[in-house]
Amino acid sequence: MTQQTQNPPAQRLKKHIIWQNGHEPQPCNIILFGATGDLSQRKILPTLAHLLHDHPEPEKVCIVAFARRDYNDDSWRKLVLESLDKYLPADDKLDDQAKQSFASQLFYCRSNFDDTDGYKRLGDLLNKLDKEEHTGGNRLFYLATPPETDSTIIEQLGKSGLSKPVPQDGNKQPWVRLITEKPFGHDLASAKKLNQELAAVFQEDQIFRIDHYMGKETVQNIIAFRFANGIFEPLWNQKYIDHIQILVAESLGIGSRSEYYETEGAIRDIVQNHVMQVLSLVGMEPPADYNANDIRDEKVKVLRAIKALQPEEINLRVVRGQYTAGIEDGKPAVAYKEEHGVNPASTTETYVALKLFIENWRWSDVPVYIRTGKHLPKRSTEVTVQFKRVPHQLYTPTETQGLVPNRLTMRIQPDEGISLKIGAKVPGAASKLSTVDMGFTYNEAFDIELPDAYERLIADCIVGDSTLFIRRDEIEESWRIIDSITEAWQKAGAETVYPYPAGTWGPKEADALIERDGREWDNP
Ligand code: BG6
Repeated sequence: MTQQTQNPPAQRLKKHIIWQNGHEPQPCNIILFGATGDLSQRKILPTLAHLLHDHPEPEKVCIVAFARRDYNDDSWRKLVLESLDKYLPADDKLDDQAKQSFASQLFYCRSNFDDTDGYKRLGDLLNKLDKEEHTGGNRLFYLATPPETDSTIIEQLGKSGLSKPVPQDGNKQPWVRLITEKPFGHDLASAKKLNQELAAVFQEDQIFRIDHYMGKETVQNIIAFRFANGIFEPLWNQKYIDHIQILVAESLGIGSRSEYYETEGAIRDIVQNHVMQVLSLVGMEPPADYNANDIRDEKVKVLRAIKALQPEEINLRVVRGQYTAGIEDGKPAVAYKEEHGVNPASTTETYVALKLFIENWRWSDVPVYIRTGKHLPKRSTEVTVQFKRVPHQLYTPTETQGLVPNRLTMRIQPDEGISLKIGAKVPGAASKLSTVDMGFTYNEAFDIELPDAYERLIADCIVGDSTLFIRRDEIEESWRIIDSITEAWQKAGAETVYPYPAGTWGPKEADALIERDGREWDNP
């Protein structure tokens, strides 16, 4: 592989967020709902510990857990310290002083989510922290809660007045923001309802809907690749592109998340959010400016241009599958139906392949093939853009045998990078062509470790930059497309959930979906 790299920057950059990203770092209180839950303990609190470790003093940040369980400040701090020891990656630990300093910023407010008095106590605590810890009246409510509790919390935040900024003495106008985690609704109707409930209490620019894929450097690099390089954009259309593939492959099964996964399945868990976000970046028109509104305006136009599938199209354009027992990474893997907590007659899909069209001038008749699944042979997320073959081939079929068309692959993870497959002459007297790769990897091009997606997103929320968060209309457009598929599935029989052994690339019916079009999957 030819590495087209610049020399790495002289100084190795910090892996963690660089706060001075054109925005002022801010003091604030982060109020964590669902603080004792798995997502908070595993992901959000360790991320915050790193983030705040790098957060410049004296802009103070405090974290207040608002939760039901019987903890106080001390026992809560102890629990979080244990979680940090357990969940901070081995190569990314914090020293004792950093952990203790983080713990001293943690507070606990015990309450049920529907207890009006609890929100009053929370307000008192936040006012006290503003005074004593100088958190400036800025408030970030973080909903890391099961979806069924969201409505209650939002309503209570409104009723208690906590959703409104409280003017501070001699300080600039404070802000109040809210982060919500996925799943954001279960279908279009529930997403709309949730959006309405949010809109009754918060302005849209206060609401930060997280899709952690948007926090990944490689996903953001799709924008840079397309719009900071003059040579690709003229080719980025139906005239030169044959088709696009988006793959989100996971080697693991569902682990201990059966309760969640049984109701969501692969299409809601991955396609509705992560895939649609990546697709909108690949398909969007150049925005006028790099700002939250311009970028999201262009992204949502892509989603709007994707028509809902008609019931009669579903069988030809969508394949769902479910893993059966197999071998993953040399070890036996049980069937989905035998996973702990899964209904033995479950029809939940752990795999989806589908074909969509973005119906506009740029993308007319260019199919976008999407695949995602659990227990596939390897973990790999990538976007492949396959260009059309040359209009007139000079070489004979024997000379070009095995030559693949130009293919640009953006590897989101792992081995983050971009590669372009091109045809080259095999040295020698005969005219034999072969495919070679031109590419770059982040690892070799930049002497920098990629920051964690969550760290980037939470930091962006604290500085008030919503470019990488999902706007209300994006969520609803995406559900509109997904609903057309899930509604058809509801009426279809269990026999349309095709089995595939764990550790394989999905059901053979999915191969047929693309092969019918004279194309093939690009497996990593
Ligand atoms: C989550 C899904 O949103 O994304 C999980 O709920 C999935 O099922 C995960 O495993 C994948 O994220 P990543 O960053 O590992 O690609």
